[in-house]
Amino acid sequence: MADFVTGIDIGSSSIKAVVLSHREKPPKLIAFGAVATPQPGMVSETDMDLEVVGHAIKNLMVSLKASNSLVVVSLPESKIFTRVINDFPYLSDDELASSIHYSAEEFVPLPSDEVNLYWQIINRSKERNNTTVFVVASPKNSVAKYLKVLEMAKLKPIAIETDLVAVTRALVGSNPFAPTTLIIQLGASSTDLAVVSKSLILLTRSIGTGGLALTRVISQYLNFEPQQAEEYKKVYGLLEDQLGGKIYQTLKPLAEVIVSEARRVMQAFQTKYPQNPIKRVVLAGGGAKLPGLVIYLATNLGLEIQEADPWAYVGKDKSLQVRQLANTMQYAVAVGLAMYEE
Ligand SMILES: Nc1ncnc2c1ncn2[C@@H]1O[C@H](COP(=O)(O)OP(=O)(O)OP(=O)(O)O)[C@@H](O)[C@H]1O
Ligand SMILES: [Mg+2]
Repeated sequence: MADFVTGIDIGSSSIKAVVLSHREKPPKLIAFGAVATPQPGMVSETDMDLEVVGHAIKNLMVSLKASNSLVVVSLPESKIFTRVINDFPYLSDDELASSIHYSAEEFVPLPSDEVNLYWQIINRSKERNNTTVFVVASPKNSVAKYLKVLEMAKLKPIAIETDLVAVTRALVGSNPFAPTTLIIQLGASSTDLAVVSKSLILLTRSIGTGGLALTRVISQYLNFEPQQAEEYKKVYGLLEDQLGGKIYQTLKPLAEVIVSEARRVMQAFQTKYPQNPIKRVVLAGGGAKLPGLVIYLATNLGLEIQEADPWAYVGKDKSLQVRQLANTMQYAVAVGLAMYEE
């Protein structure tokens, strides 16, 4: 089964898994599915809670007939620290490693022996005497927790990535002509943003405002049960002309939080890379399905907004119904993980 890779995205609201066959090029979709994340999920510190998450993953793998495949998993952006460092001179691999370890102390608020550092060289030029790297620092205890849960599911990952690294692979692939893109991934407990140029991540951000916060605000202000608030959110969302604009008005302040974060990221990027304008915004994650969101963002950000097609760079059987893949933006992370190649 070494030709089969399963990407497992342990989200705070649901666990998503995508199985791809790497026997073909591009890798081909074999199966995908999701289960609700048993609460409290990965935020828990007790083995009993984590065991339940492990069990849910194991069942999902059985239902997808993927138990023997290779596995790749991701850490949420809220658990890690990333930075693009673009002011190193030209450095050898060894020099680079020690410079990164030294610089990491600036953006990682943890002792250096408590984090794993991973990096990817974006650019290294002798002529311009410059090295640019994308650095990810993952706390060892977070990594250990994910490994433990997977072990409880009888799985051992061949790689641990980050949500945004995976999403970027799924949505941009290795397309060198892809226009510079702001990816906004709206999950349940967070919204993650990344600016991606020529398939390289140049800037990332994560905020704790996601779909859950939207549901909560409806439930609080309009006095609905959470379940009912969730339904109203999914039906009316940011549609101004529905229910006298009641849901729209309730959600607007939070939508504004996301818009201002997107603006901040765009501004920071433009300051750093004035020659490289952002051409479009791509929305991923379950929260991207919010009715009216595309128009709201287009109006407020003044850019072309696209809904992600997580399956754009994978092979699909013709027998697969279009509607089976409709509204599956929440699978972008799992697809990218399953696309992983050693
Ligand atoms: N049609 C819809 N309209 C609005 N929101 C939706 C819709 N469908 C799903 N959502 C929201 O998407 C969120 C779940 O998305 P997703 O599966 O990407 O999150 P997650 O990966 O579990 O969370 P996180 O990444 O933050 O840990 C939920 O908050 C849910 O309410
Ligand atoms: Mg998620």
